Amino acid sequence: MSQQHLHNVIFGGFCVKLKDKVAVVTGAGRGIGRTIALQLAREGASLVCWDIEEESVVQTAREVEAMGSLGLSFRVDVAQFNQVSSAVEQILGRFSRIDILVNNAGITRDNLLARMSEEEWNQVLDVNLKGTFNCTKAVVKQMMKQRSGRIVNIASVVGLMGNAGQVNYCASKAGIIGFTKAVAKELASRAITVNAVAPGFIETEMTKGLGDRGRETFLKAIPLRRLGKPEDVALLVSFLVSEDAGYVTGQVINVDGGLLM
Ligand SMILES: NC(=O)c1ccc[n+]([C@@H]2O[C@H](COP(=O)([O-])OP(=O)(O)OC[C@H]3O[C@@H](n4cnc5c(N)ncnc54)[C@H](O)[C@@H]3O)[C@@H](O)[C@H]2O)c1
Repeated sequence: MSQQHLHNVIFGGFCVKLKDKVAVVTGAGRGIGRTIALQLAREGASLVCWDIEEESVVQTAREVEAMGSLGLSFRVDVAQFNQVSSAVEQILGRFSRIDILVNNAGITRDNLLARMSEEEWNQVLDVNLKGTFNCTKAVVKQMMKQRSGRIVNIASVVGLMGNAGQVNYCASKAGIIGFTKAVAKELASRAITVNAVAPGFIETEMTKGLGDRGRETFLKAIPLRRLGKPEDVALLVSFLVSEDAGYVTGQVINVDGGLLM
């Protein structure tokens, strides 16, 4: 039996593009983050799943293990730098490397600017933007030492186009885009790529609150005439973290059915 045949027998139909890679996905307990974690596991990566909700992130890690990949879970609030850096130390104690970081954890606290509280502003900026800074800063020394790495930040099309009722969220996502480009420039000489993915309307718990009218309005504006699925985002992320995307950095790629062109 050839090596390749043996490999196919062992891994079945799975593609193992990310074999031996260690990936951290934040907000991996549900929705887009969970789907990204499972997709990277399907491609052979070892997964470190972070979420503020312990029960759900334990469940994601179990699903990763059921697919035959290594899955660890940590309860981490990405807004707290100390929690993030101690989780990174534990990962390095176990694997001595981190190849992939997907900054996916995010929240909304929607309100019109005139009614928005300082707390609603701070919460969203703390999790979405400062969380992205915290996690990136915590892994970057290791990636620089390795002279390799892949960072993908989950932004949003509303960070590019704006959305009434979401000034905090739009500002946080626009901030992530600026952060992505600056970090991409800082890390390029070490062969570390940094990109942002900007989803449009993706069906998850986050968008459930929009109701039927909100969905109808979005559907009319989406040229592909369907709402997005978490898998639509996960497949793009899995390309960006692969060796195949080594010449792509500092980019913002929309996954939105053509909503923003
Ligand atoms: N769903 C959409 O239409 C859409 C569109 C554009 C961008 N996004 C972005 O995609 C990402 C994922 O969104 P989703 O729709 O899957 O949301 P979701 O609410 O379904 O899941 C978010 C996950 O992040 C976790 N989380 C929240 N705060 C955290 C914290 N402080 N520390 C660690 N984990 C935390 C939650 O527990 C949850 O598991 C977010 O950054 C979101 O802004 C979503």
